[in-house]
Amino acid sequence: MAAYHLDTFEAYLDARRQAAENPEAFWASIAAHFAWKRPWDNVLSADFERAHNRWFEGGILNITENCLDRHLEIRGNKLALIWEPNDPRERFVRLTFRELHTQVCQVANVLKKHGIQKGDRVALYMPMIPELAVSVLACARIGAVHSVVFAGFSAQSLADRIQDAGARCVLTSDGLYRGNKEIPVKRVVDEALEQCPTVEKVLVVERTLWAVSMQPGRDFWMHEEVETVERDCAAAPMEAEDPLFILYTSGSTGKPKGVVHSGGGYMVYAGYTFRNVFQCRESEVFWCTADIGWITGHSYLLYGPLLNGTTTLMFEGVPTHPDPGRFWQVCDKHGVNVFYTAPTAIRALMAAGEDHVLAYSLDSLRLLGTVGEPINEEAWHWYHIHVGKERCPIVDTWWQTETGGIMISGLGALSPMKPAHAGLPLPGVEAVLLDKEGREIEATEAEGLLCIKRPWPGMIRTTYGDHDRCVQTYFSAFKGYYFTGDGAKRASDGLFRIIGRVDDVINVSGHRFGTAEIENAINGCKAVAESAVVGYPHPIKGQGIHAYVVLRESAGASDEPQLEIVHAEIVEAVVESIGRIAKPDRIQMAPGLPKTRSGKIMRRILRKIAEGETESFGDTSTLLDPDVVQALVQGYRSLSEH
Ligand code: PRX
Repeated sequence: MAAYHLDTFEAYLDARRQAAENPEAFWASIAAHFAWKRPWDNVLSADFERAHNRWFEGGILNITENCLDRHLEIRGNKLALIWEPNDPRERFVRLTFRELHTQVCQVANVLKKHGIQKGDRVALYMPMIPELAVSVLACARIGAVHSVVFAGFSAQSLADRIQDAGARCVLTSDGLYRGNKEIPVKRVVDEALEQCPTVEKVLVVERTLWAVSMQPGRDFWMHEEVETVERDCAAAPMEAEDPLFILYTSGSTGKPKGVVHSGGGYMVYAGYTFRNVFQCRESEVFWCTADIGWITGHSYLLYGPLLNGTTTLMFEGVPTHPDPGRFWQVCDKHGVNVFYTAPTAIRALMAAGEDHVLAYSLDSLRLLGTVGEPINEEAWHWYHIHVGKERCPIVDTWWQTETGGIMISGLGALSPMKPAHAGLPLPGVEAVLLDKEGREIEATEAEGLLCIKRPWPGMIRTTYGDHDRCVQTYFSAFKGYYFTGDGAKRASDGLFRIIGRVDDVINVSGHRFGTAEIENAINGCKAVAESAVVGYPHPIKGQGIHAYVVLRESAGASDEPQLEIVHAEIVEAVVESIGRIAKPDRIQMAPGLPKTRSGKIMRRILRKIAEGETESFGDTSTLLDPDVVQALVQGYRSLSEH
């Protein structure tokens, strides 16, 4: 029987061996540590080619029973959730497992009262307040499929996601505070709902007490509704493969796709990886700074810690408000033991200077973590020295929305640690490097395309409403493998270093965008003939967005004031279509794009120019108009001089 908790490096090696020799027996023994209403009949039926991978079939469970009910007897009065508000002067909130259980049951009953049933999709568009955590769990309680949309996305993005999922209900708030910003969340929802006929009910949480319009029969205040329902709600019995949630994420083509995760496998994987990567003890406080609108918030702010009975901290604000010492102030205030954040936040705080971090003791910290993008060595060392005081190990955790949980990472203090290296695959994760022809690279020290060779319980089940897209995106590039879209290096000691995306996905401050998504928004402007978007190295964000835009002849490209208007229109188009988070950092007006004779844009050249390269573009003879390259270089120069 495989141990649920790995407490030595040898135990990790042993688990890896067991998982490789008999994966089904391995995962069955991990799954046995959870509460099932009915055990599974079959651990795994796998088919990579058709993307038909099913775990623990026949098993019946409810993930909220594992997050809440299971703990009531032994740790009912222990803190489950600590909430720190945007404004440090406002009161924080603490909820025990018992209190959280009651709140989840109440909201679950409100959903039921409004006709929401098992299998219905519920969209959540909310600030980082306890009610968001409660609402997510309330959906899971009754078997409704939650689709959390980060409350920084625009009304159009929200509408797209609601429509794609066919959501019947939206949970939101009156407004939102984030740093110095105040966002009228309900107004964004109202605008989105003009295009969403499937939505019958909107439940609104009070946060800012701003006046909002409430549509009779459709919109209800959550605090009033909660008063009308029972305080207990039986957990719906769910099949292991019933969908638990949809989370939209960007790929190389088209609109963002709804990644679907099912309850049984996701629970086992999020629980197991949380336990072992962060090694939290019973008395510890865990803080993941991600928003619940991203997968990191799902798996390691909410489900992972609660599944393990760990106290999780939720923060409403941003790292730099009211000053760049906020993260560290919160660590001291709540005695945080494990702190998990993104490299972009570390780089931003590093740029603000050491004084902000040196002002706090940070004595409670035991372990640090990073996620979302490659961490550069300078930021890694700053984090290690100034935050971790060279005492706390760092786990650099590589994974994706599609993987459900951490795939490659150190395990607390147990594993070897090397700056900028994610490390070794977790037990049961068979990570391989392929060359461009799809051949597995045997040598340990190598660079290639990162693929996963075997199913794991937390893996993506489908892309909502379009299974073929799931097959095409992840399982078709290389037969028999899940293709991650990342390039990676493996050092002689077997440790992986993630290089970054090899497809047309840009990772801006740990947020994924498809270049096509941004181009579609830009191309919607009247003055624009065509555009091409690429990522370039950015000192804080990891990657910045560089847009090359070709204007229509009628747009008045030589007229400065006219150009400024067009520039503003382009920015506005992206903000409206996607959200402020996808705003291009640079917009370069271009006379044309480097295209092959068949009309394909050579992005390789555009990427080089955006990186500041002025020559050595390789073979440009296949270009329809090779002169365009020099014109683009000139354009880049005058852009950077501006
Ligand atoms: O390129 C990898 C990068 O983030 C991508 C996944 O993005 P998303 O689905 O939004 O999930 C982010 C949080 C899990 C990956 O394809 N990435 C994630 N973690 C790391 C990373 N790149 C380098 N190092 C990491 N630790």
